[in-house]
Amino acid sequence: MKFETLCLHSDNNEKDEWGSIAHPICQSVTFVHKGVDVESDYSYSRLSNPTRRHVEKLVASLEGGYDSCAFSSGMTAITVSLLLLEPGDHVIASDDLYGGALRLFNNICKTNGIEFDFVNTSNVDDVKPYVKKNTKLFYIETPSNPLMQVTDLKAISEIAHSIGAYLFVDNTFLTPYFQRPFELGADIVLHSGTKYLGGHNDTLAGFVVCKTKELYERILFNSKTIGGQLSPFDSFLIERGIKTLPLRMDKINDNAIKIANFLKSCNSIEKVYYVGLKDSLGYDITLKQSKGFGGMISIEVKSKELAHKILKDVKIFQYTESLGGVDSLITYPMLQTHADVPEEERNRRGINDRFLRISVGIENVDDLISDLKQAIND
Ligand SMILES: Cc1ncc(COP(=O)(O)O)c(C=O)c1O
Repeated sequence: MKFETLCLHSDNNEKDEWGSIAHPICQSVTFVHKGVDVESDYSYSRLSNPTRRHVEKLVASLEGGYDSCAFSSGMTAITVSLLLLEPGDHVIASDDLYGGALRLFNNICKTNGIEFDFVNTSNVDDVKPYVKKNTKLFYIETPSNPLMQVTDLKAISEIAHSIGAYLFVDNTFLTPYFQRPFELGADIVLHSGTKYLGGHNDTLAGFVVCKTKELYERILFNSKTIGGQLSPFDSFLIERGIKTLPLRMDKINDNAIKIANFLKSCNSIEKVYYVGLKDSLGYDITLKQSKGFGGMISIEVKSKELAHKILKDVKIFQYTESLGGVDSLITYPMLQTHADVPEEERNRRGINDRFLRISVGIENVDDLISDLKQAIND
């Protein structure tokens, strides 16, 4: 099956006794044993639940992985995946990451004895000097949040596998519709399902997708031990969102290319970060490893006052956290997603008071451009 068809029929139209088209929400926490010592698929919903199982298998099939575990948020998924490490292990991570992942690594994982080096992984040669005897994991977001750095996944996976380390890729921004990290060497693919997979800003969710049975069984063990699974209702919503993932991603991609080009033409915008711009640093690698550019754009405007004016004056774009839904949103990373990154470090990387992040939605692109035009007032 092709991707668009898989989004709807990955289960080969296996039906329940009523022939439901929408998979029913199975709210039961516990399931009757068929007999002493008789194996059954479900016993208790922290271990496994029919509605959650359905979306887990769906996401695994879209990514081309062995199987996946669904969690109540992207951060739970990242946390559970990092539990594969032991104290004394070393991680090489992208130096540009979602602020919540940075907070987890710097404040919790380090306390638990995991060592980190944060490196600009978009330059593969810069990565090699950081490899140590105890390096066990390369942790990559590509494109990264919010600077849109693109990492050559195949090149990093070769370094990782040459020393027996894992490659984890957060594929939230491009989704498997545009980028399939397992085909480029990833061992685990992570998602904030809250974003494009769900797609409607109405469900928190996270996925750990595993390439092998061995990794899946370890993640499943951690998952059933810790908890934090995706609820049946939220599993239903994510599955429903995925049915339109390709349609939404195509529209978002088309809108974003036009918007990024418009933003580039504005005098009062100094820098546009979008991987679909031909002169962007990551353009060539994106063409090589991805089928689309996605809907995330960051901009650096001329002044702090202009940044504030844009946030105040937009009428269709909405000033909020988050990304990846059908509605177009604008975020102020220094006060929101990256507020916990020390100011000096943030400024060094350009995430300053003139830096905004845009998540392009599916509205009419002319309306979106007019909205930005009147707010920027060039
Ligand atoms: C790239 C990326 N990964 C992970 C997360 C965390 O996901 P959640 O908010 O679902 O916990 C986010 C949240 O914004 C994100 O942008």
